[in-house]
Amino acid sequence: MIIAIDGPAASGKGTLARRLATHFELHHLDTGLTYRAVAAALLANGLPLGDEQVAIDVARNLDLAKMDKSVLSAHEIGEAASRIAVLGGLREELVNLQKRFASTPPGAVLDGRDIGTVVCPDADVKLFVTASAEARARRRTDEMASKGQEAVFASVLDDLKRRDERDSTRSVAPMKIADDAHLLDTTEMDIETAFQSAVDIVANARKN
Ligand code: C5P
Repeated sequence: MIIAIDGPAASGKGTLARRLATHFELHHLDTGLTYRAVAAALLANGLPLGDEQVAIDVARNLDLAKMDKSVLSAHEIGEAASRIAVLGGLREELVNLQKRFASTPPGAVLDGRDIGTVVCPDADVKLFVTASAEARARRRTDEMASKGQEAVFASVLDDLKRRDERDSTRSVAPMKIADDAHLLDTTEMDIETAFQSAVDIVANARKN
């Protein structure tokens, strides 16, 4: 059983993926963390973000069990991750790792930008989770404020729009809705409503 979840930054796909994995007793991989982990290692070692071979070497040594979400969620790491995510050879390396994860029984929920289109094109269920840029920026601003981090709505909104633009216009594996994905627009939903809708979609797909 594989559930593929894609969507733009701060759409809530990560929370939904984690909760769906618990609910359906599957493994969970936030594939954004794999790009973030490579970016973080490059930044920490003062290595260039544009050197594909260096990024591939870092990706080959990546240990999924050692990825620390609280460290990797830093804003500058997300920016750097989105910049290295345009490198085709790096993507190939990370996609192979993600495919291996997905094929481990009993199955998994993976979330990212290209799961339904590239990593798991044969997934049992595909969801594309989205929300208006303003709603996503509001949630991200509130989340940062609740952690005591400084957050200005207008600049969070600008950053999200810039990242969406880069992620959806790059030539390799751009973020897009798979033809057979279910669209879940959470602009007007709270997390409980979004989760229930997602559970219903997966349960229905499993019946068919
Ligand atoms: O989802 P998250 O914000 O952690 O992802 C960081 C960046 O990694 C994204 O902006 C995107 O450029 C890249 N990414 C990707 N493909 C994925 C997951 C993330 O290109 N499957």
